[in-house]
Amino acid sequence: MKAMASAPAKMILFGEHSVVYDEPAIAGAVNKRAFVEIKKSYSNKSILRSFDLKFEVELDTINKTYTLKKGKPGIIRYILEALNRVHDHTPILMNLSSQIPIGSGLGSSAAVTVATLAALYRYHNIRFNKKSLAHDAHMVEQAVQGVASPLDTLVSTYGGLVYLSRKKKFEPLKINFNAPFVVGYTTKHGNTGKMVKDVRTLKDKNPKIINPVITAMGNITNYAKQAIFKKDYKKIGELMNINHGFLDVLGVNTPELSRMVYTARECGAIGSKITGAGGGGSIIALCPGKIEDVAEGISRQDNVLRVKFTKRGVSSRVRW
Ligand code: MEV
Repeated sequence: MKAMASAPAKMILFGEHSVVYDEPAIAGAVNKRAFVEIKKSYSNKSILRSFDLKFEVELDTINKTYTLKKGKPGIIRYILEALNRVHDHTPILMNLSSQIPIGSGLGSSAAVTVATLAALYRYHNIRFNKKSLAHDAHMVEQAVQGVASPLDTLVSTYGGLVYLSRKKKFEPLKINFNAPFVVGYTTKHGNTGKMVKDVRTLKDKNPKIINPVITAMGNITNYAKQAIFKKDYKKIGELMNINHGFLDVLGVNTPELSRMVYTARECGAIGSKITGAGGGGSIIALCPGKIEDVAEGISRQDNVLRVKFTKRGVSSRVRW
């Protein structure tokens, strides 16, 4: 028997970092996915392999450690945490493949966590639904990162475009939003846990400056929600640019991210900003009528990913 699951990457449009302090956020699932397969191992070892991420490890699911056989497993802590919580520690063979660049700010860790948990629940025949899965995946992210909002895991589980309110109320945005975005990413990875902690330190040291910034970021999200429903690209772009400035204030910008953000604007994007935790990773640019110009401009020095929003969230099944 083989248990299989996949979950989508996400793109945060508004609210990264401020969402950690209960401000609202808007994010959408995109058409790049992480895939996990689990089957019984007939040796006495549990092995995790990823051909496309180019690593192989022997897992110690009880002690949450691993022995490296090949490559560099950036995402392993999320998988070990999920296994430790759900798996009975019998030997398994796990395959991971991902279309999402790891550390890109597109929610690779959430997608891998959601897909791993869903595959494990299938493997052990444990009943679950999207609500319980999103909750458990959030617990895994929190355990690994120290602090995490439920945003990434919610989007990866449910799919679609999502608004998370100040009271952490999850609201699927029922709108066909096919805005033309380009994603630019650097090969410098961001570390979400570290970025979230750095922002907290800055906030604790300068509460009178940073608290109003975080509140303003929440207000941006709420204005953006209205603009999204009106499909007012000009307003969305303006709000993206302001939001990027605030993310810079929070210290999560880097020279590479800045380069991509401004290149995108020079090439015709009406808005561009960091997406995700920053410190490396990705930017998004809204570029109606200018997709090719912006993609070409960014790809002169960095990488471009073409993504589309998708309604498809987690999916899982068993094959005998
Ligand atoms: C990371 O994709 C988004 C952050 O807001 C962290 C979180 O929400 O847990 C930076």
